[in-house]
Amino acid sequence: MTDRQKVSILDLKKKKSKGEPLKMMTAYDYPGAILVDESEVDIILVGDSLAMTVLGHPDTVSVTMDEMLHHCKAVARGAKRAFLVGDMPFMSYQADKSEAVRNAGRFMKEARMDAVKMEGGDEIATTVKAIVNAGISVMGHLGLTPQSATQLGGYRVQGKTAESAAKLLQDALSLQDQGCFAIVLEAVPTELAALVSRKLTIPTIGIGAGPDCDGQVLVLHDILGLFDGFAPKFLKQYANLRPKILAALEQYCGDVDARRFPAPEHCFDGNEPSLQAFLSEFK
Ligand code: KIV
Repeated sequence: MTDRQKVSILDLKKKKSKGEPLKMMTAYDYPGAILVDESEVDIILVGDSLAMTVLGHPDTVSVTMDEMLHHCKAVARGAKRAFLVGDMPFMSYQADKSEAVRNAGRFMKEARMDAVKMEGGDEIATTVKAIVNAGISVMGHLGLTPQSATQLGGYRVQGKTAESAAKLLQDALSLQDQGCFAIVLEAVPTELAALVSRKLTIPTIGIGAGPDCDGQVLVLHDILGLFDGFAPKFLKQYANLRPKILAALEQYCGDVDARRFPAPEHCFDGNEPSLQAFLSEFK
């Protein structure tokens, strides 16, 4: 990267109008944020997927506001260039509009995010509007919305019928009308995602939504191969770090067992005379 200027919401809009793909990636902690920020990724999403990737939950439902803020703060300390989006966790915006505005405000004020992301369509439109009116940028999330996966009958492709496709398009237009600056489309047929992307003036960011979205997003731990056994069709793994990490740990254990570690170059000299005198008393 030559230009290390902070990415602004205007840069994201410009990319859509120029037909340049937007690149979004998750990060959940300080070292991860530094790495992603050093790449050419435009947007770092502190996704509630951290419930699974770093907290060991089976889904995103249990993650709390405080846990999300804790991780967002670490990411904000590491990332100086990318546009930062904090994911509002389940039940932080569904029950009460004022509570939703206050919680969105915490992502900005306490965790120094540039925007928040919320799952849902027309049913959250007035809440989106209230948050936007408070001066907070909102990214929408349609299609497979993991916080309501139980209601959807599991992690399934959405918008496969004319009726559900029409609803998704309507939801996308409604979120745009309420002031969303971008919308994630998750697990949606390629042709439907292409139509939605054409109809909207704001960028769509796809995950399992084909190549015609205005941008793409994936989960950092998935593309790096840090997990075994998670292989949805839309995932492309760019590195397989798990065996490399396991090999390093095995080598470390072998070195400690064989007393090869620590070697002299890892140790501190004890040749200070008073220390030598003290030690000689114990010989
Ligand atoms: O939580 C997350 O990581 C997400 C992305 C998959 C879009 O919502």
